[in-house]
Amino acid sequence: MTNSIKISPSILSADFSKLGSEVISLERAGADYIHIDVMDGHFVPNLTIGPEVIKKLRPLTEKTFDVHLMISPVDKFIKDYAKAGADIITFHPEATEDTAKTIELIKKENKKVGISLKPKSKIELIEKHLHNIDLVLIMSVEPGFGGQKFMPEVLIKIKELKEIQKTQNLNFDIEIDGGINFDNSKDAIEAGANILVSGTTIFKSNNGDIKKNIEL
Ligand code: DX5
Ligand code: ZN
Repeated sequence: MTNSIKISPSILSADFSKLGSEVISLERAGADYIHIDVMDGHFVPNLTIGPEVIKKLRPLTEKTFDVHLMISPVDKFIKDYAKAGADIITFHPEATEDTAKTIELIKKENKKVGISLKPKSKIELIEKHLHNIDLVLIMSVEPGFGGQKFMPEVLIKIKELKEIQKTQNLNFDIEIDGGINFDNSKDAIEAGANILVSGTTIFKSNNGDIKKNIEL
């Protein structure tokens, strides 16, 4: 984990008719990661993109592909997303019958492992795996759609995770995802998040000036 804050723009808010050039623009604008939201219409009530799209985007940038899988059951698709070019593969514990097994499947592909907690999901659900993963993704909206309102009550979970890190001497990244804007990003960082996901704010604020929005 680094002390610097990373920005992972979510391409969910990009113009899908020109996804390739949107990704290139994000790289030029200084994005650290590219956050790719994968939804199956079953685990969450929305459908987005699959591995074929990620495969086509992969040659366009060397930026880390931060792939957020909102699909269940997740195990059978891990390999496909790894082969497509994901660098970090994040899943939800509710999307697997065996969290330890899913972690191992991702590691077998030599990818970084993330676990995501929905706003109402508790840390206890993943606590015993924290020593074995690279990242925890705290959802600050119900997963499924961009443009929702930030839920400040999830910040307490980030503080709890920081405590666990300290007492157990652990080293995972803490990423926050959902409704992040210029104001609440400061609260998230203060709570202990070191990676910020943002779709709407980055693509739509300041007339879509993504460079300015990433820097702000
Ligand atoms: C929600 C997704 C998020 C979200 C980010 O299910 O995981 O990545 O869309 O978009 P904004 O910043 O618009 O909330
Ligand atoms: Zn996401």
